[in-house]
Amino acid sequence: MRISLPAAGRPTEDLLAEMRAMKSGDADWQGGKVPLYVFKAEDSVTEIGKAAFFEYFSENALGGGRAFPSVKRMEDDVVAMALGLFNAPDGGRGFMSTGGTESIVLAVQACRDWSRKQRGDAGHRGNIVASETLHPAFNKGAKLMDLDVRRAPVGPDLRMDLAAVEALIDDNTIMLVGSAPNFPYGMIDPIAALGEIATRRGLWLHVDACVGGYLAPFVRMIGRPIPDFDFVVPGVSSLSADLHKFGFCPKPASTVFYRDADKAQHHIFDADVWPNGRFVTTTIVGTRPAGGAAGAWAVLNHLGVDGFKRIATNLMRFIDDYKDGIRATPGLHIHGAPDLSIVAYGSDEFDIFRVAEVMGAKGWLPGLVQRPKGIHRMMSMFHAPVLDQYLDDMRAAIGVVRQEAPTKAKIKANY
Ligand SMILES: Cc1ncc(COP(=O)(O)O)c(C=O)c1O
Repeated sequence: MRISLPAAGRPTEDLLAEMRAMKSGDADWQGGKVPLYVFKAEDSVTEIGKAAFFEYFSENALGGGRAFPSVKRMEDDVVAMALGLFNAPDGGRGFMSTGGTESIVLAVQACRDWSRKQRGDAGHRGNIVASETLHPAFNKGAKLMDLDVRRAPVGPDLRMDLAAVEALIDDNTIMLVGSAPNFPYGMIDPIAALGEIATRRGLWLHVDACVGGYLAPFVRMIGRPIPDFDFVVPGVSSLSADLHKFGFCPKPASTVFYRDADKAQHHIFDADVWPNGRFVTTTIVGTRPAGGAAGAWAVLNHLGVDGFKRIATNLMRFIDDYKDGIRATPGLHIHGAPDLSIVAYGSDEFDIFRVAEVMGAKGWLPGLVQRPKGIHRMMSMFHAPVLDQYLDDMRAAIGVVRQEAPTKAKIKANY
């Protein structure tokens, strides 16, 4: 289909009105009906993030080094604060990026180039070893960089099976990855044990803390058990953590860190190849919104440790109530033992996808996991006020599914 660019332009109000009308058909994320994509802490956090983003609406973070030192300063501050949060040693380095995928692809590229240098083999085709729960962004990075990804099945408890992971390592393995937590079941992989394998076998261990990195430290600070997952584990070489998820910062904002300057050096793109001279970037993209850096700087400073701990307290209390609600519902069980705010649940008695389908009719956008079949939700403070409504609608949907003649669910798990 093609449509023409309008011959004459249209006024702002007219366009905003049309957008608002289009939006009314979208899923109700503000009402807690969307189980992924958007995150909320407190209203004041949304407000400061928005204000800071629009304060830097026109600036370009690409020019942070030259035209906009304030943008560079904010990025440096964010990275410096996070290096401490993730226990990076002296000499650790970090960079902001536009998202988890970009952070991951950059870390994979740095690892590939570092490994090639170590091996003295500029064309070496390496592989990445992890559990099947690994985020597909690693396959995206591998596709771009001619690498392979090997995924070991999880154990019966849905945890990373360390023996199965180690069995996939061969002479061409360059990277091990653990997630903190993984997206499918919300469980933190055994990073300390992976660190021991990485050290023993001379491998680069990346921790994908994209979804949990800015929540887990504060959940630990409020006294809940969180296993070691960051640079405190000696074998960890790099770590990715997204500000625009549970850092509650405006999109796009992520961070990626390296244990030492040598590894970090391979992250940087530096080329003097064209008439305009040297071109140095620390992101895959060139032009990018300075609002990402400004929003992150403002949100981190607005919340401080106390604010993040308060949010962790409220969020984890809500997650406890949510889990209690699932456990109190006959026929349901929680997948594995989620550590943070991603929870998936399933049933041995009825088709859980059918339950999600029936709930969909009431506006609940289904989040699904296909192995084992479950309803999957990544929750923040949007979801807390509608907990009772959710549980009522879910139990009503189970009632419908238990009574109907066997019906094949039409929906499929996709992200
Ligand atoms: C564990 C994990 N890693 C990486 C990503 C990718 O992040 P992004 O969507 O910001 O690229 C996600 C996204 O949910 C994730 O859950």
